[in-house]
Amino acid sequence: MYILGINAAFHDTAAALVKDGKIIAAAEEERFTHIKHGKRPVPFSTWELPFHAIDYCLKTAGITLKDVDRIAYSFAPDGVQESTIFEEALFEESDTAIAVGARNSWDTLFLNYIRKAPDQLRDGYPHHLQKRFVNAGNVANKWEFVNHHIAHAASAFFPSPFTKAAVLTLDGRGELATTGYFIGDTNELKQIDAVNMPHSLGMLYEKITTYLGFLHSSDEYKVMALASYGKPVYLEDFRSVIHVANDGQYTIDDFDPAAFWGPGRTKDDPFDALHFDIAHSLQKALEETVLKLVHWLYDQTHAENLCMAGGVALNCVMNAVIRDHGPFKNVWVQPAAGDSGTALGAAQWIDVQQNALNPDQRYTSPMEHVYWGPEYTDGEIEKFMIWAKNAIQTTLQCGKGNSRNSCSRQDHCLVPGADGIWSAFAWIKVHSGIADSPGHAGETQ
Ligand SMILES: [Fe+2]
Repeated sequence: MYILGINAAFHDTAAALVKDGKIIAAAEEERFTHIKHGKRPVPFSTWELPFHAIDYCLKTAGITLKDVDRIAYSFAPDGVQESTIFEEALFEESDTAIAVGARNSWDTLFLNYIRKAPDQLRDGYPHHLQKRFVNAGNVANKWEFVNHHIAHAASAFFPSPFTKAAVLTLDGRGELATTGYFIGDTNELKQIDAVNMPHSLGMLYEKITTYLGFLHSSDEYKVMALASYGKPVYLEDFRSVIHVANDGQYTIDDFDPAAFWGPGRTKDDPFDALHFDIAHSLQKALEETVLKLVHWLYDQTHAENLCMAGGVALNCVMNAVIRDHGPFKNVWVQPAAGDSGTALGAAQWIDVQQNALNPDQRYTSPMEHVYWGPEYTDGEIEKFMIWAKNAIQTTLQCGKGNSRNSCSRQDHCLVPGADGIWSAFAWIKVHSGIADSPGHAGETQ
């Protein structure tokens, strides 16, 4: 049974294909479109599906969308209740009817796009990919919405090396949860507890990422690196807003970083000790907080092994602290710990739920490598390089239409500036030719 997993609700759009407990293919959309993270996590991009990644998965299996038995989407819109996903303050007043489970117009847009995703997959594919999408039949009948943190947890446990493990998911947010505690045993994955919005370590890290002049939901790794230059000067400030209880729960006060440390850095401002020290203090606060959560999870499970996923689990410095100072003997982190991995987790969750018939025998296989995306032979790479070399030589022309090889007169390419002085020199790229390149996403066969 082929099960296609899709992540598209927020960002890191991705697809994965599994069959009978085995991973067939998995890839992120950004590898085909060259748009980092696939898209920004904003409600008006929620409709965008990872068509190229899906196409790649289908191509790898030699099937079309019609041949897929189940489709697992890693966000459950009906799980959204009494929660604001996107701030209404970002939105002009609207007369749009509010959708079920939504609190405002942004949520309505977001949730409706998700509920309509089966139709978008069936009808919205790019024309150049129609070969594997056309005549897909009744996609909605195959559709499964999977809770976001269950998808993260499944991606951490089912492909892990362990038959039994505690599972911790740490995220910006899912439908409601921001942190999830699970126990996995063979083919069973049970949720123990969760921490819900608005208390989120991931969103705290995002807030400081913005404050330090970076792009949130993208550049958190830069803040982690920046931390290595600083000292824990402001650790007490973070401790004053993060409150960890002894039952696995935590709360984070809503605070304005500027009230603590003055105006935030903007993108092109220079870095100074303040920024290094804030990043370092945030990192230390994260590490000590998660260590407490990990100890609580160990006390609940007494498992030897810990599996982790969720965007915060991409923080490899924190992961090393958990490994070196935490109570678990072994730690395994899903390499695609961010939202891209939920495509795999959602697919594996449905696969296990529907097909793992023997409760005593492990159904899924350990994930022994991460090479589930496109690969290219030496011959294909050489073919592309020759094409690229020829394309550059033949498509550059001077202002008089002469090719670069036959023209050496710079005045043919001088252009007038606003001050009337002819100064700039430029070769004109007549056409990009990229659409004709061998192996381009638009030409996947
Ligand atoms: Fe997530």
